[in-house]
Amino acid sequence: MFYKKVLKPILFSFDPETAHGIALSFLRAADHFPFFKKILSFQYSFSHPALEFKLLGMQFRSPVGLAAGFDKNCELLNSLACFGFGFIEGGTVTALGQEGNPKPRIFRLKKEEALINCLGFNNLGAEKVGDHLKKRANPKIPIGINIGKSKSAALEDAAKDYLFSFEKLYPFANYFTINVSSPNTPRLRELQNDLLPLLSKLQEKNQELSNLMKQNLKPLFVKIAPDLSIADLEQISRICIKAKITGIIAANTTVSREGIENIPTLEGGVSGKLLETKSTQIVRHLYKMVGKELVIIGVGGIFSAEDAYKKIKAGASLVQIYTGWVYQGPCLVQQINQGLVSLLEKDGFKNIQEAVGIEA
Ligand SMILES: Cc1cc2nc3c(=O)[nH]c(=O)nc-3n(C[C@H](O)[C@H](O)[C@H](O)COP(=O)(O)O)c2cc1C
Repeated sequence: MFYKKVLKPILFSFDPETAHGIALSFLRAADHFPFFKKILSFQYSFSHPALEFKLLGMQFRSPVGLAAGFDKNCELLNSLACFGFGFIEGGTVTALGQEGNPKPRIFRLKKEEALINCLGFNNLGAEKVGDHLKKRANPKIPIGINIGKSKSAALEDAAKDYLFSFEKLYPFANYFTINVSSPNTPRLRELQNDLLPLLSKLQEKNQELSNLMKQNLKPLFVKIAPDLSIADLEQISRICIKAKITGIIAANTTVSREGIENIPTLEGGVSGKLLETKSTQIVRHLYKMVGKELVIIGVGGIFSAEDAYKKIKAGASLVQIYTGWVYQGPCLVQQINQGLVSLLEKDGFKNIQEAVGIEA
């Protein structure tokens, strides 16, 4: 209530990127005061055995994670973990630090409860992000790091660029996401048409580094666009299996403008409610096709426990949120977690994992 009545009107009176900056400053301050983090955890945490499970060697307290893009430089993972997330994905991080596209580059579609962004992977680069992680990160929940291609790297050199970030950030991630689906880096999504060379090289490096560190292989996920055809989805899934990829994150923002009343001129990807049905359909399709071989993370337009449950029943083992957090506020994760427990009880499930894919 406090968020919707007081905080949101204040934050929404600023342009979206300034509002995001204010939120990051608050989290940065919280990060320095353990007492503050304790209060946040007390206020927003929710734990229940029905939501706890082990997957891919990682222990999750909830299937609800924070999607990539909120903490691009992986500097606020500790304070973000206080909001009840089961896991957090930092990034997208690129090999080279870059400013991203000119501002303004985020737009609110309030009526549609959506956002359009064309940020273009603004981040400090793998080296500096690695320093943040080395110094501060100890969030006690699984951390994914999402890596992308630097804008200045030619498509032909993409693998080299991804490998640089992968190697630099390897010790700090519980899993990696290979982002080939942002609409805001020119030609990036073309990588989805020929994924095998890139994935094979990353998997080779994964093997090499895991041997060196005497650890298990890190799970690798591929994050896909929601604008792919069924044939593309089938091809990408087959390639992921061939390259021994762990799973697929569906989906990134869409380039479609369907459902928007007053279409702004801003280019970029749409997130939020407009993406909900489409991303759930993709999750369902993937689960039916390759649910036994690949783990699916569902993301797009989750604003409630019901939305999260829909994706889980369609086949997502884990879900992520971003735009819903912006519109619904910091209580959202706790509300989803509580709601999921009630939904599971209603359906007679003892644990969230039992519900995965039951409606695929
Ligand atoms: C402002 C903004 C920035 C984003 N940046 C990234 C990013 O850097 N990397 C990425 O893989 N996805 C990024 N995303 C996409 C989200 O991770 C997510 O896939 C998408 O927004 C759909 O989920 P949602 O509807 O819950 O927001 C971004 C989304 C938004 C709104």
